[in-house]
Amino acid sequence: MRLWLFGLYGIVSTTAVAGERAIKKGLSDKTGLVSELEQFKDIEKYSPLDFEAFGGHEIRNLDKNLYEELFSHWENNFHFDYRILKSLKEDLEKIKAKKGTALNCGEGVLEELKPLQTLEDEGLSLEEIVEKLEKDLTEFADDDTVAINVASTEPSIDYDKQVHGSLEGFEKAIKENRKDKISASMLYAYVSLKNKIPFGNFTPSVGSSIPALKELAEKTGTPHAGNDGKTGETLVKTTLAPMFAYRNLQVLGWMGYNILGDLDGKVLSHEQNKRSKIVSKDKVIGKILGYYPYTITEINYFPSLQDNKTAFNFIHYKGFLGTKMKMYFIWDAIDAIVAAPLVLDIARFLNFAKKKGQKGVIKELAFFFKSPMETDVYNTHKQFEMLVNWYNSLR
Ligand SMILES: NC(=O)c1ccc[n+]([C@@H]2O[C@H](COP(=O)([O-])OP(=O)(O)OC[C@H]3O[C@@H](n4cnc5c(N)ncnc54)[C@H](O)[C@@H]3O)[C@@H](O)[C@H]2O)c1
Repeated sequence: MRLWLFGLYGIVSTTAVAGERAIKKGLSDKTGLVSELEQFKDIEKYSPLDFEAFGGHEIRNLDKNLYEELFSHWENNFHFDYRILKSLKEDLEKIKAKKGTALNCGEGVLEELKPLQTLEDEGLSLEEIVEKLEKDLTEFADDDTVAINVASTEPSIDYDKQVHGSLEGFEKAIKENRKDKISASMLYAYVSLKNKIPFGNFTPSVGSSIPALKELAEKTGTPHAGNDGKTGETLVKTTLAPMFAYRNLQVLGWMGYNILGDLDGKVLSHEQNKRSKIVSKDKVIGKILGYYPYTITEINYFPSLQDNKTAFNFIHYKGFLGTKMKMYFIWDAIDAIVAAPLVLDIARFLNFAKKKGQKGVIKELAFFFKSPMETDVYNTHKQFEMLVNWYNSLR
């Protein structure tokens, strides 16, 4: 398998690559990988945990290589054993990103990641940008390639039926250079799906979730899934909320307050970029309970934490005889360590789906996402069952 990562030099991406290479070298076990569970044991036949190559697009530090970028994240976080880092140097130095696009990526990206190096800054039209992205991707890809978006979170873009509602409208907008209507994540999804490369969206950005790109996936027979990796606080929320439902306890209010540092935190400190993340995190409770209690969902930048995201949750609920009670939990994790294995999992399951002739949205991969496409199943337990059943029905 080959894996193309949009946002190649981020901490999630570099940690995913390092993890796969460390496992291959026998320097780490497979803890954290869902695809390595007993239930999926023969996935190895279709999508081995042995990636042949990694590549991707970036919009900064294009003179650097993946090892240098991993090292700079590591210096801030020490998120795994230094011996692993050292042993991967030679291998990871060979991986270099290609220039991507930051079209409509919002103030957070423009301000916090500068100086940016983007295709639009070369004065290219949308059509030329697409050509360039497509060239990079197809030169890298073989029949066993998957692409995943792990770039910074974009603001949501106003839905325009003319452009986003059909493939014809979308392609017309590209020809007409409608840069105001199309974002980087849409272009990444477009070039992947157009070339029959399964696409996973690990971010809350639009990606392949518009009708135009769903149509493209059906047309080219390509599987895709998203959006926004469910790795931490939301994983716990969607695992815990069903408990209140099963016990007929009424949730009155749920507050989730997240603090994080690092690049992701910096980008999310900008209101526009933060909005899409909050929407993604906030709606899950109502979807599970079938009613919408009062919720507060906040994310704030806290520089010294670096990648150590901490989420404080307070749940107010009502029990027997109308008595009100409370529950609290704190999730305290290294974001990249919980996210990176899922990137590898999603790639393996999407490749498996392609090999089994699946196309369009793979809703059974909902287990991996905060805002899964084309399903109302948000309950983690049910999502896991759905994943196992789907896998068994195809293998
Ligand atoms: N647990 C988690 O870490 C987690 C969970 C769910 C979703 N996510 C999402 O995954 C994404 C990556 O997270 P991260 O912690 O690695 O962030 P990061 O800031 O470390 O990495 C993002 C990378 O993307 C690059 N980038 C930004 N815009 C780009 C563009 N348009 N094209 C190409 N590259 C671009 C940046 O330069 C950076 O290297 C974020 O959107 C985040 O919200 C992370």
